[in-house]
Amino acid sequence: MSKILNGIMLKKKKKIQHYSAVIGLMFGVGFLPNAANASDQDLTYLEEMGKRLFFEKISLSRNMSCSTCHTAGTGGTNGDSDTNLGQVAVTGSDGVMVGNLKPPTNKYAQFLNEVGDPEGLKLFDVACPGFAPAPCGGAFWNGRAEGDLIETVHNIDVFAGLNSKYESMYKKYLGPVADQAHASPFINPLEQAKDDKFKVCTQVRGTTWGRQLYQYAWGEHLYCSYRQVDEIFARFAVALSAWQMSSDNNRFDSKRDIALKHDEDGLFDLDGFTEQENDGHDLFYGQARCFFCHQSGNDQGVGKFERYTNDFYFNIGVPRNHEIPNDPEPDLGLFATTSQNNHRGEHKVPTLRNVDKRPYPSFVKAYTHNGWFKSLEQIVHFYNTATVKATCSNEYITAEQAIAENCWPAPEVNENLAGFAVGNLRLSADDEAALVAYLKTLTDTTSVEPPSVYLPYTYDKSRLDHNDEESYEQEAPIYNYRESIRSRYMR
Ligand code: HEC
Ligand code: HEC
Repeated sequence: MSKILNGIMLKKKKKIQHYSAVIGLMFGVGFLPNAANASDQDLTYLEEMGKRLFFEKISLSRNMSCSTCHTAGTGGTNGDSDTNLGQVAVTGSDGVMVGNLKPPTNKYAQFLNEVGDPEGLKLFDVACPGFAPAPCGGAFWNGRAEGDLIETVHNIDVFAGLNSKYESMYKKYLGPVADQAHASPFINPLEQAKDDKFKVCTQVRGTTWGRQLYQYAWGEHLYCSYRQVDEIFARFAVALSAWQMSSDNNRFDSKRDIALKHDEDGLFDLDGFTEQENDGHDLFYGQARCFFCHQSGNDQGVGKFERYTNDFYFNIGVPRNHEIPNDPEPDLGLFATTSQNNHRGEHKVPTLRNVDKRPYPSFVKAYTHNGWFKSLEQIVHFYNTATVKATCSNEYITAEQAIAENCWPAPEVNENLAGFAVGNLRLSADDEAALVAYLKTLTDTTSVEPPSVYLPYTYDKSRLDHNDEESYEQEAPIYNYRESIRSRYMR
């Protein structure tokens, strides 16, 4: 299987005959898709469907997509600098309703490795082996997308009525990421705020890509009947999961990945790193103890697919952020999922990939579940000194003001603090700077491109699934080109 993970090409295959390109040539105009987005055709049908669902403004006022809060230029978090600096939580499609959390990145949560096996985020479990048996896995800051929502909790058979080959092809995409999409931003009034699943389905059915890719990916026409809408909606969630798990979304092409790949012995110190970056790495895996939590493989950071999270939950003692609209009560994190008091205030350890990815240097990013920190320098200084400095008398101050006043406000939830690893690291200013330099090497060097304008394809069975192209013969579904071309102009 020639699946190259660090590039846009997913596999080598004969170029698909592009129906509309023929029209383009006939009229001598530029109907060809944007060259930068040629990758759309290298995705499987299911992945392309998921990518288009991700970028389409499927929302109450048709003004918001998944990519509003999970933008490419920031590595999958919110794309508005002012919001990050101010209210942190992103106002929903209706322009009024708003949640109370920072969008975590949707990248590197889970992905498929070179042989097509799901890696990363596992099903939520209350007793994962670790320091002590503790909860791990699941999606969301509090882990409530446990990975069995669609099948067990909502009792939906995604593969109902389909040839069993779809189950063997797509079952790997069920789990926390599919659960999260099913949870679901599309119909959450705080987010995209569509009235119901049926309206989501009809908006998708109103697009050429929606009808064609659904049919190519699932072997069925997309009809939004009330009887089937639960299954269809779950299939959209599986498609979103497939794209989010693809190498188009998870590129593993940061400076660290490239330097590691080209390094002679494949070990740190890396030739491609500056001395400061190499120092930062050593601190990360040493005195600064970051690896206690921000490490997915037990290999001192040389793993090809290192995600910089162990998927556990901790309370690092982030101060409360009073700037979030309506000044919400402290967020109890994992407690909301387990109802156990020893989980109050614990939040999921986020990946550190792309923590510094930003569209331009002065763009502000917000860090941790409530976005109180506005720079890597601030949060690293916090890790170093949280339990050493005095508690600020004013808990309404910003991180910048707290640093100026040489204090930290009290933790948002002053219980279950991870003091064994956080808060008194005895790092010098140079050490802190080295850690920040190291974190910056985790930024992907390329970004996801939005999908190009959809032009109908002729069916190509090799786009059904990356790994099983030989074993799944399928008749080309009957597709009405005339209808699809007409509707392209009607969109
Ligand atoms: C209004 C902003 C907003 C929109 C729109 C939005 N998200 Fe999110 N997303 C969030 C926030 C906030 C969270 C964290 C919520 C929580 O932890 O309770 C989140 C969490 C996630 C996660 C979990 C990541 C992890 O590691 O736990 C994934 C995956 C994700 N979103 C994907 C999507 C997809 C797919 C869509 C579109 C169907 C979408 N998001 C639309 C704000 C948004
Ligand atoms: C005890 C576990 C633990 C240790 C040790 C730890 N972290 Fe974290 N880290 C977390 C958790 C949990 C969060 C999320 C906290 C929250 O949202 O309240 C986090 C958040 C972050 C974030 C914000 C990421 C984002 O997307 O918002 C950065 C950056 C970070 N850590 C870097 C570091 C560095 C650098 C070190 C070492 C100095 C370190 N961490 C040590 C558990 C840990």
